[in-house]
Amino acid sequence: MAPTVLHEKLPLTDNCHHYDDINEVPWDIQKYWHQRYNIFQFYDYDIRLTDDAWFGVTPEPVAEKIAKDLSPSSNKHDTLVDIFAGAGGNVIAFALSEKWTRIIAIEKNADTLACAQHNAEVYGVLDTITWVHGDSFEFLSQAKTNPSSLDESIRINPATTTVFASPPWGGVNYKDHEIFDLSTMEPYNLEHLYEACHPMEHVLFLPRTSDVRQIAKLVPDGANIDVVQYCMEGASKAMVAYMPVSSQN
Ligand SMILES: C[S@@+](CC[C@H](N)C(=O)[O-])C[C@H]1O[C@@H](n2cnc3c(N)ncnc32)[C@H](O)[C@@H]1O
Repeated sequence: MAPTVLHEKLPLTDNCHHYDDINEVPWDIQKYWHQRYNIFQFYDYDIRLTDDAWFGVTPEPVAEKIAKDLSPSSNKHDTLVDIFAGAGGNVIAFALSEKWTRIIAIEKNADTLACAQHNAEVYGVLDTITWVHGDSFEFLSQAKTNPSSLDESIRINPATTTVFASPPWGGVNYKDHEIFDLSTMEPYNLEHLYEACHPMEHVLFLPRTSDVRQIAKLVPDGANIDVVQYCMEGASKAMVAYMPVSSQN
């Protein structure tokens, strides 16, 4: 799906829910709904989520901490692209951090993107983000090989751009494994993500049990990477790998 820049908010649909009462909430989401104020502290201000988005949204304290930890690596480094924007958990925190000159948020599911835009409006950052409906891999490929095919507002300079990727964690259930084999992650495994993002600086938001050795293999010789466990209430919510710029093509 070709990346399309949105100049207006997508309309909310019947799939963009705001549940006020436990009796309305599908049973498999109820445990997340109980944590709703940890997910979005302004939940009561009509935060919207699709039923699928509840499983993947980054809780606000974690999103805030990542946004604090991730800074442009130089004065020239100015653009952040969230390639899996979801319902907006991370991208809203990046926008609130006010560290980036330009933030681009890409999401392929129109209902989820409508929620993200609506939630960004609740947090007062709707207009500080360039919203793109489409496939991130197509965006990244065009950005590298045929930038002029992209709308001018989303052309990026790979040397001054950081990509943030919080992909779906499907595939073999990572909770069943002491060490999660990132080659089995679906629909995009580690190699797929790395191929798409490098040589740009990129940040991967991964299951907490991810195999660090697989990440280390991707790092250029002599480079350091930070791999951080982000915890809440005594448990890790995710492992985040801060991948440096790579000189390989
Ligand atoms: C784990 S969620 C992201 C959650 C997000 N960080 C948040 O806090 O709300 C992953 C999202 O990636 C979207 N997605 C999956 N493949 C995509 C692709 N190729 N291009 C753009 N979005 C994609 C899914 O629709 C889903 O909303």
